[in-house]
Amino acid sequence: MKKILLAAAALILLAGCTQKSEMDKYIDTLMGKMTLEQKIGQLNLHSAGGFISALKVTEEDANVKLLREGGLGGVYGGSNVEYHRQLQAIALESGAGIPLIFGLDVIHGHETVFPIPLALSTSWDPALVERATRVAAKEASATGVNWVFSPMVDIARDPRWGRIAEGAGEDPYLGGEMAKAYVHGYQGYDDNFDKDEVLACVKHYALYGAAEAGRDYNTVNLSRQEILNGYMRPYQQAAFAGAGSYMSSFNEFEGIPATMNTYLMDDLLRKAWGFKGFIVSDATAVMEEIAHGIGDLQEVSARSLKAGLDMDMNSDGFVGTLKKSLDEGKVSVKDIDRACRRILEAKYKLGLFEDPYRYLDPERADKEVYTAENKAIAREVARDCQVLLKNDGVLPLRKDARIAVVGPLADNHSAMAGCWAMSKHTSETVTILEGIRDAAQKVTYAKGSNLFLDKAMEETVLYGLMRTFRPDMPIPPVHTQSNAILIAEAVAKARQADVVVACVGETENMNGEGASRSDISIPDAQVELLKALKATGKPIVLVLTTGRPLTLNWEDANMDAILCTWSEGSEAGHAIADVLFGDANPSGKLTTTFPVSVGQLPLYYNHKNTGRPHPDYAPYRKFTSCYMDVINGPLYPFGYGLSYTTFDYSDVTLSANEMTAGGKVTASVTVTNTGSRDGKETVQLYIHDVYSTSTRPVKELRGFQKIELKAGESRKVDFELTAEDLKYYDHELQYVCEPGDYEIMIGPNSRDTKEPVILTVK
Ligand code: BGC
Repeated sequence: MKKILLAAAALILLAGCTQKSEMDKYIDTLMGKMTLEQKIGQLNLHSAGGFISALKVTEEDANVKLLREGGLGGVYGGSNVEYHRQLQAIALESGAGIPLIFGLDVIHGHETVFPIPLALSTSWDPALVERATRVAAKEASATGVNWVFSPMVDIARDPRWGRIAEGAGEDPYLGGEMAKAYVHGYQGYDDNFDKDEVLACVKHYALYGAAEAGRDYNTVNLSRQEILNGYMRPYQQAAFAGAGSYMSSFNEFEGIPATMNTYLMDDLLRKAWGFKGFIVSDATAVMEEIAHGIGDLQEVSARSLKAGLDMDMNSDGFVGTLKKSLDEGKVSVKDIDRACRRILEAKYKLGLFEDPYRYLDPERADKEVYTAENKAIAREVARDCQVLLKNDGVLPLRKDARIAVVGPLADNHSAMAGCWAMSKHTSETVTILEGIRDAAQKVTYAKGSNLFLDKAMEETVLYGLMRTFRPDMPIPPVHTQSNAILIAEAVAKARQADVVVACVGETENMNGEGASRSDISIPDAQVELLKALKATGKPIVLVLTTGRPLTLNWEDANMDAILCTWSEGSEAGHAIADVLFGDANPSGKLTTTFPVSVGQLPLYYNHKNTGRPHPDYAPYRKFTSCYMDVINGPLYPFGYGLSYTTFDYSDVTLSANEMTAGGKVTASVTVTNTGSRDGKETVQLYIHDVYSTSTRPVKELRGFQKIELKAGESRKVDFELTAEDLKYYDHELQYVCEPGDYEIMIGPNSRDTKEPVILTVK
């Protein structure tokens, strides 16, 4: 048997090599025929001219002109088969006749919209994420897209940063598991792309989520040791999973913009992790290196190429200056060839040389996109991406109750779709009101409030994007009704109801790119509504739409239940109603800490101890590491989330208390569903290195399992630990498992772990 397996492995390896050498030969021949300009053209990526789905090609189109001159390798931002077919035809008849690659921001689904990535991560279920991503890949590929700008795997510890919505939260281990799931969902498990598999683009490489003070695009100031231990794992795992491309980020690291950072792109990604694909810049990131203070467009383009960047998105730096830099000896033919080859390899793997129209089948979209089946999957997925933060017993609701649904996010389609949804079907996204109405009979509705009390702020939030691109365009009026009138209407409805469902939080444009906030509370106008509702004495369920953790102290103290539903996508309202009425039992757990105050930020569970540690929930004490005016601990910790049932954890046991460097130990707990409903629970394992040569976090996630238990059922959950699980990057940046004692902790979240047991590594 072993021999057969070995022979099979050898054959696979051989097939891989043969394939590789065929690809090499093909590309050698092709590049042998290409002019320098055509090679540089491959390094150029242009936007299709906005995020449009219905475009027509004309000879005036800048992309067409460039294509005819052989100066374009790819186009992004469109998802229109007809438009892409026309461009492809021009590409094939121009220059070296090389097919274009078509990219798009398919971030949380495509035409069928899935929960935003932060929400997806709260499922703690990589298989579920892979399933969602598979649907996105099928839909993208059916609409002319073969390259998706996802996954976004930036670790973020500061919810002031709006793009925290786009990632998997604050933990590098969980982020790594999610990164792999996305890559496999998009690309499958090998280098041979089926025509419903697309090339992933891991972003934003690297460390974009560590922007100082949560201000978008801001400087990153971290040590190599810190990034290797706290931030890089998701990028690394995506490379190990075979991701075909990466996108460089806007920020700098160690004083060098990421887009020209040799350490990040070459030393780590390519040399240490073996990444073989190509790296594209973020949109205009090459050009932005001028503002970073590095040099003019020629200088920054040359340095970016030399550092390992292969494709320039929307700066025209490569296409406009590399020839000059070559003449002046600032770059070499080898540098250009290397980048060109990597892009051609991606096109080869996508099968574009065999059939340039492989992803441009006009028949597929109608049959495969936004189907009832895909929407059903979106609903199933969204059910598992909601976090029950509080429940005094009011949930689940009875379907025959009189329910007042109120709040500016109750009937808001785009807020349900989320920050990166560009679906043509956004207006069909099921709102919370619609979902509740489909499930219950006695439902009333009132908008209840504006978003903000300040009119200018409301305009900025709703129309800021439009104003950026079309400053002259008149914006629709806001605040057409005063907050007082809206509240009065909602209060009247609440008084007639048995229970109030208050739908508040952030609209889709309050998070995502360019949406940093210094105050991360529910906006004032909506809190006024909540206070007025509270005064009615009716039970209130707060349904929170948000793309980031918010400060919810008053809400936690005053609302009867809080269900965090993020932006759940196409089937949001149905999936939320499923949970509200108990047809689904909530099982999401936070992947980002919810702080008590914005002043605590950055606040994350895997922090280190100081020499004067202070317990998370203890009052102020002078000369310890704490605040005078706020506790150290979070309102809701990482890993936290309630269910309609309850789970009990036994003490943790180890199969042995000692482990040798090459050994294995099993850590176990028995989890019991002690309530009266079936439910899912994510069991989390954390470690703490008691003494180490460098300081280590107080807790680090090193394993998790999502299990399903029937009411009353118990199950033993085992985690196998090896030295690999205990390793970290030491002060010399060596990845080591140091001998000594490790605390092993298991529990339902990062705060409430069971008493640690000690594992000694010999
Ligand atoms: C964003 C990227 C995105 C790109 C293309 C940039 O502004 O940072 O995440 O993929 O635009 O749309």
